[in-house]
Order: sequence, then C-alpha cells, then structure tokens
Amino acid sequence: MEKSALKEEILRLKKEKNAVILAHYYQIDDIQEIADIRGDSLALAIEASKIDCDIIVFCGVRFMAETAKVVSPNKKVLLPVENAGCPLADMATKDAVLKRKEELGDVAVVSYVNTNVDVKTVSDYCCTSANAVNVVRQIKEKRVLFVPDRNLGEYVREQVKEKEVYLWDGFCPTHEEFSLDALMRAKREHPSAKVAVHPESPKAIRDTADFIGSTSGIISYVEKTDADEFIIGTEEGILFELKKRSPAKRFYIIGGSSVCSNMKKIALEDLYNSLKLENYEIILDDETIQKAKEPIQKMMQIKRN
Ligand code: 13P
Repeated sequence: MEKSALKEEILRLKKEKNAVILAHYYQIDDIQEIADIRGDSLALAIEASKIDCDIIVFCGVRFMAETAKVVSPNKKVLLPVENAGCPLADMATKDAVLKRKEELGDVAVVSYVNTNVDVKTVSDYCCTSANAVNVVRQIKEKRVLFVPDRNLGEYVREQVKEKEVYLWDGFCPTHEEFSLDALMRAKREHPSAKVAVHPESPKAIRDTADFIGSTSGIISYVEKTDADEFIIGTEEGILFELKKRSPAKRFYIIGGSSVCSNMKKIALEDLYNSLKLENYEIILDDETIQKAKEPIQKMMQIKRN
C-alpha cells in the first residue's frame, strides 16, 4: 500500500475501533506524525491512565506498553512489534533486585520506568528521567537502591546529596555510546551551540552539558533558550519534535547520529496491522497489575521537575 493510503487506513481503523495512538519521541517520523499523542515516558504513562478509548496502540517499547496496561487495565493495549524491547530494562531481573535489596538491608527500591513489569512489582517507587531527582528527594526513605540505569542513578545521587543512593550496573547502549571526543568536536565546530543531553548519558557528557533533562525537558529547554544552534545528546527521533517546535534552530546529534534500534522497529505497516489484527496485546495477570501499579501511582503523585 502507498504511504498515504496506509495513513488513511490507519486513521479509519483507529476511528472504527475507538483506539488512541501514543508515540514516544524516539519513534520514526511517520509514526510520530500520525500519533494522537507524542511524549516522553512520564507524559505517555499519565495520558494512558486518563484517555477515554477501548484500545491503546503504544508505539514505543515493551516496558512502556506494559506501564500503559498497568495504569489502564480495562483497556486493550497493543504493541505493534512484539519484540520491541529495551536492553536497559533487561539488565535488571526481579530476582537480582530482591537479592541486592536483601544484601543492602533497609533500602527503598526506586526503579526507573525502563524496567520490565516484574521488577516494578518488587519496587517501592517508580520514576522516569523527568522526575527521578524529585522522586528520590521527596520520598521519606534515606537509603535508595536505584535500578537499573547507573548514569541516571549517578545523576540523581549528585543532585540529591542528602540521600544514600546505591547504583545498579545497567545502562542504555544508545546513550552510553556518546563520547566526550565527539562532543568536544561538535563544540569546536559549533562554538555558539548550547549542549542539551539526556541523563542516561555518561558523566563526562553530562558534565559538559548546558542542560540535562528528559526528552520533553530537552524539547522545552530548546524552545525557550535564546540560541540558534544546539548539540543534542539523545536518540535522534527527538529531532522531529525539536524541528516542529523550533523550525529556525539548528540541531547536531553528538557523533552525528544516535539510533535506538528497538524504538525504530515500528513501521507504518506494523501500526496498520496492529490496529487491523489487534496485536500484539499486552497480557498481564491481576496480581502483577496490582503490585506494579503501586510504585507507578506513587510516582504519578509526585510533581515533575
Ligand atoms: P524519556 O522519559 O526522557 O522520554 O526517556 C525515555 C527513554 O527510554 C530514554 O532512553
């Protein structure tokens, strides 16, 4: 099918089935363009909990669709590509988290939303990159096991000095690839550019940045900052929203390009098939939903920074 016909069919099916399409900022442009709502992990989780529809088609990776199912258990939640996963999420298992928690004794487990749902069932609080600092700062516990991203965890530890934050040895392969050499080269080539990076980036990158924040944080920083050029340290799907909101500004991804292959798995055809065949449905048992809901709800009650 031609792209325009495919888009028309997606819109028709969406209406017929009373479905809503959510897309993360790392999705391909065609998907972001056709989505009802684009956003960062936190915004999409909040939207999923309050939209009125029968079906949520989640264009993102599995942990995001699982989170949508947990907060909207009565809706059918679809992930258009079954194996769109997250290597960072796979770096922490429920058993390993329980073991580490036992070793550390009295700690609160704060798990990044980039975890598989069974890890959330043994977490005390959930967080996203948009609210991680606030969540750790505002909870009553003084000792925290932060799972699974060591870079975001280290950033939180730097910001919340009054708490004892234990790190997990996980990382996002896409952000971990950013090198200081590549960033310094970009700064030499674009000396007046501001540097905005995601907190999943390594410390040397964060320490060289003018701004550190979630994908939506980066988007609003760019929008309100009086500069013509920006060096960006996150997955390049974000360029869609950056260019849309700030068309006169210029953007350079550290190292020239940064791609999360999982986020790029969903093509328009997959979205069409997902709506047509209603696959791939996220199925979670009631106990998992109930247990995973608690840390997610606690997160949603904390204001974003
Ligand atoms: P955001 O919450 O900033 O959108 O990040 C999502 C993510 O998976 C980063 O790798």
